[in-house]
Amino acid sequence: MTQRLRVGLVFGGRSGEHAVSVMSAASVFRYMDRSKYEVVPIGITKTGKWLLADDALKMLETGIDEGSGTPVAIVPEPSRRALVATDESARRIEVGGLDVVFPVLHGTYGEDGTVQGLLELADIPYVGSGVLASSVGMDKDVMKRLFRERGLPVPRFEVVSRRDIEAGPVEVVARLTSSLRLPLFVKPANLGSSVGVTKVADEHGLEPALREACLYDRKVIVEEAVTGAREIECAVLGNDDPIASPPGEVVPAREFYDYVAKYLDPNTQLIVPADLPAEVSERVRSIAVKAFKCVDASGMARVDFFVERESLNVWLNEINTIPGFTSVSMYPKMMEAAGIPYTELISRLIELAIERHAEKSRRLTTYHP
Ligand SMILES: Nc1ncnc2c1ncn2[C@@H]1O[C@H](COP(=O)(O)OP(=O)(O)O)[C@@H](O)[C@H]1O
Ligand SMILES: [Mg+2]
Repeated sequence: MTQRLRVGLVFGGRSGEHAVSVMSAASVFRYMDRSKYEVVPIGITKTGKWLLADDALKMLETGIDEGSGTPVAIVPEPSRRALVATDESARRIEVGGLDVVFPVLHGTYGEDGTVQGLLELADIPYVGSGVLASSVGMDKDVMKRLFRERGLPVPRFEVVSRRDIEAGPVEVVARLTSSLRLPLFVKPANLGSSVGVTKVADEHGLEPALREACLYDRKVIVEEAVTGAREIECAVLGNDDPIASPPGEVVPAREFYDYVAKYLDPNTQLIVPADLPAEVSERVRSIAVKAFKCVDASGMARVDFFVERESLNVWLNEINTIPGFTSVSMYPKMMEAAGIPYTELISRLIELAIERHAEKSRRLTTYHP
């Protein structure tokens, strides 16, 4: 029998999406193919401590608290490829090698390139996008400018800084209402889960919405609303030659797909595959692959769209480099519709991680002029 690979499953973390990450990781833990992989469960507390779980199932069910595991770290030195214990004596005791890491972390300090940077320094292959695509995917300002530059159909938008909003809200509102057409969506540039997002129907709503969004970030995006938008999503899998799934649709039972619709409202429907004419599906899939390549993503991404109900015009909204990953989340459901069941999807992502690492390692690191 070939040796099983040791997969560090990293979950939790410091972001507002901590709890969602734990749910995704519980599914990955449960369904990972044990004939190929040995799982090393590592929970990150809300304060950012990394703990090797004593009892993974317990940690995944009851949450990651200080007492639930051994404090560990990944040291940023290449070729050690191991977790080390970080007790008070500060001795570095290896508590296990890692062949690959699967970061199931959503939002800041996980999906944004920070953890990916640590894993690059440690020279450990990891699932999903590298540093650049991860951080671009987190920043709606940079992401949408790249999409626009690539000719992809994004709604018109402007970016304002917290500084400008606080220093001269009246001027900012005047500028925005002269360059963009209401209704507008106002959102923090670096966040997810619809936190801090407001739909603004008239001029008076704009300043409060800007103030709300800049509580969460120093950059705020103001974007023209796509009216009567259907929320269409598409799953992409691969490295240099990625595939796109049949699109799916989210039907929120609220005005838009806000935090409540995402995580709390049982009436939100997930429909896979989406009911769309074949040519619209094809357009969505083709833009999804272009968006993936545009930010230089790898492994996986969920690309989200708005499709106008009447005209069926397609608008690209965003790319998520670590999408919700429970077995009933959109990304795995869409991949299943593409013929890749959940357990196989996890294996495929791990293989892609190793492939990408090998590909990167091929570059020359010395130069003799
Ligand atoms: N331009 C827009 N037109 C229509 N609806 C929008 C627009 N921007 C955001 N929304 C609504 O707000 C939700 C959250 O916005 P999004 O940009 O996807 O942020 P997040 O990263 O928090 O998911 C969307 O799923 C959609 O329901
Ligand atoms: Mg979104």
